[in-house]
Amino acid sequence: MPDIRFPNNFIWGAATASYQIEGAHAEDGKGESIWDHFSHIPGKITSNDNGDIACDHYHRYEEDVKIMKDLGLKYYRFSISWSRIFPDGKGSPNQKGIDFYKRLTNLLLENGIKPAITLYHWDLPQQLQYRGGWGNRDTADYFEQYAGYIFNQLGEYVPMWITHNEPHISSIISYWDGRHAPGYTDFPLALRACHHLLLSHGKAVQLYRSLGYKGEIGITLDLNPMYPASDTDKDKKATIRADGYENRWFADPVLKGKYPEDMVKWYESRTTLPEIKPGDMETISTPIDFLGINHYMPHTIKHDPSVWPANYAKLLTGRPLTNMDWEIYPEGSYDLLTRLHRDYNGIKLIITENGAAFTDIVNRKGEVDDDNRLDYLYGYLQQMNRAIKDGVNLAGYFVWSLMDNFEWGHGYSKRFGIVYIDFKTRQRIIKKSGHWYANVIKNNGFDLV
Ligand code: FCB
Repeated sequence: MPDIRFPNNFIWGAATASYQIEGAHAEDGKGESIWDHFSHIPGKITSNDNGDIACDHYHRYEEDVKIMKDLGLKYYRFSISWSRIFPDGKGSPNQKGIDFYKRLTNLLLENGIKPAITLYHWDLPQQLQYRGGWGNRDTADYFEQYAGYIFNQLGEYVPMWITHNEPHISSIISYWDGRHAPGYTDFPLALRACHHLLLSHGKAVQLYRSLGYKGEIGITLDLNPMYPASDTDKDKKATIRADGYENRWFADPVLKGKYPEDMVKWYESRTTLPEIKPGDMETISTPIDFLGINHYMPHTIKHDPSVWPANYAKLLTGRPLTNMDWEIYPEGSYDLLTRLHRDYNGIKLIITENGAAFTDIVNRKGEVDDDNRLDYLYGYLQQMNRAIKDGVNLAGYFVWSLMDNFEWGHGYSKRFGIVYIDFKTRQRIIKKSGHWYANVIKNNGFDLV
């Protein structure tokens, strides 16, 4: 029996996203997505990289499923490229697009791996962006239509669905910070985009329920614990705001049916809030089966009135960093999970992403000894296990990522995989962390060292 043991039937998986791995960006009738569009604008992505080929998973999925099988994955989380299915975002479906996901789903099932599908991992069809993207309320209806089509095609075979990946990123970071596609810097628009994203989530959940499928459906939020930089009142208040701005603004509507009052009040005097139509909040808070959490790092918060709109800044505190300059603090995952359990009624939680970027080197034996990534996973899994022991309903864990891939604005410069990709030859090599993770899955836990 391993020292650190997980509950029976714990969901062990690895995650990816369509734009980050598939490539084949204009093949078999696929339409352009906002990430195809954005990444081709010079200067937006490190080294002007793009996802035209990425890991070439579209052509190499058979090899990739074999790797998953070798790793012993129980689940594989991937996302569907909306513009592969509906090149214009709506209208008639592209048969070749859905065929790809059917082939992938079948192959996974044949190999005993359960598919966990994310409907939206940021690659909106560019044609819908021309109509205002998530700033346009109609996009929520188009999303519902797209979701309905996918449920009809795959609903019978897929046990786990995630409507959206990190709406905080696809609204605030994409429409206000401008670092992600479509690259806007308009805060009221970002709040509108957020409202429509959440609305589309609720519509898809309602639709899924009405179709009577037996799988589970939820949403994935990027959630991180926030700690004040000092004991001062100002920093403590700023920390509550940071939590409101990044965490509660997304979790509260979905799980409590309302935007957090302190933040609504804060924004009222500073910006324009989105229009909320009657019934919206009920739709958004349609009960879900689990809350997906993407968690990577802690945040340390300092009051800073120069930062609009929420008047806070983030500090590094000297903890070790990953290659993203994200602090490594496994205890933060314990704090986060216990807090979510407490504040959101013991809802079932699933870690849908956790992992670390480091510089990897292929050694002379052709191996990648990524002890730093292994240590990261070891530390975080230990703390998550501690949360389970303390009563948190954590049902699963997906490592980010199955393989090195296109890391958005950073292009190919940040490697998160437990499988190494040589981006010249597209050769795959299971890293040391991958072999370690395979053993964790096999033993449903691990020994302390
Ligand atoms: C998350 C994204 C995922 C990946 C990791 C590192 O925010 O969901 O696609 O980029 O960060």
